[in-house]
Amino acid sequence: MKIGFLHSLLRKDEKLLLEACGSRRNLEVVRIDDRKLTFDIGTKRLGFDVVLERSINHSRALHALKLFESAGVKCINESQVALVCGDKLLTSDALQKAGIPQPRVKVAFTEASALQAIEEMGYPVVLKPAVGSWGRLLSKVNDRDAAESILEHKTVLGTYHHSIFYIQEYIEKRDRDIRSFVIGDECVAAVYRTSDHWITNTARGAVASKCEVTDEIQRLSMAAAKAVGGGIVAVDLFETDNGLLVNEVNYTMEFKNSVETTGVNIPGLIVDYAVAVARGTRHV
Ligand SMILES: Nc1ncnc2c1ncn2[C@@H]1O[C@H](COP(=O)(O)OP(=O)(O)O)[C@@H](O)[C@H]1O
Ligand SMILES: [Mg+2]
Repeated sequence: MKIGFLHSLLRKDEKLLLEACGSRRNLEVVRIDDRKLTFDIGTKRLGFDVVLERSINHSRALHALKLFESAGVKCINESQVALVCGDKLLTSDALQKAGIPQPRVKVAFTEASALQAIEEMGYPVVLKPAVGSWGRLLSKVNDRDAAESILEHKTVLGTYHHSIFYIQEYIEKRDRDIRSFVIGDECVAAVYRTSDHWITNTARGAVASKCEVTDEIQRLSMAAAKAVGGGIVAVDLFETDNGLLVNEVNYTMEFKNSVETTGVNIPGLIVDYAVAVARGTRHV
């Protein structure tokens, strides 16, 4: 069996996955460095039973997945999942269609209409780039002065993409959120991410601690995963007095801070899943 391992840099997560692959017999792993990869459009039979995508760049991942699929290769995740999860606007739309609770979201395309949308929503709001991760370029906007200034900065200094304004209701979530991990048909683990800062990405210094996978976390995580097309995803959840809200869904999930914390062999389960997909004993 041959797995194509699509990657950029090999971070700790990728090393853990490669180790997990290395412990399996009859599993050949071919590393595909997206910095060296070229495609001949139209080529078929690339020889992989499955490609596991671990790029750190959304555009590369998305386009490579699309081209691998066109060449007849099964991919984890599917390009459609990358497309939806890679764009917060498309994610919110998919969650909404599936009836999944999420913070209120407004979208606008100009400075003036964005300001109006923010005023309608009421302060504070969170402005996010539709495509982005690791808590970068997020703004908590507390008043009109800040809104005007951030919108002007984005419009004047940013690329066109920064003028697709994704405006989200600020959720008073105290000092933490929940990150849950879905592999196929199960939410296998979850962690709290706790921080003094309102942005609780571990990439921004938040600390991970074990979170029991309650029935609500299991149910909502699976529903969110299904809404974006399934596969292997990590779900960001906010706790509120009225239950959990889904903030976003991530498709190249990072788990390095959560293996020891939860005691769950997440990389091992990912490789099991990839092998099952490669064998055809399960669909992505
Ligand atoms: N609407 C919000 N209300 C409160 N906190 C938020 C909100 N949106 C984001 N955050 C905080 O910022 C973090 C990063 O936001 P997120 O939407 O997950 O973007 P990223 O893709 O960069 O991880 C979240 O984990 C959460 O701690
Ligand atoms: Mg996030």
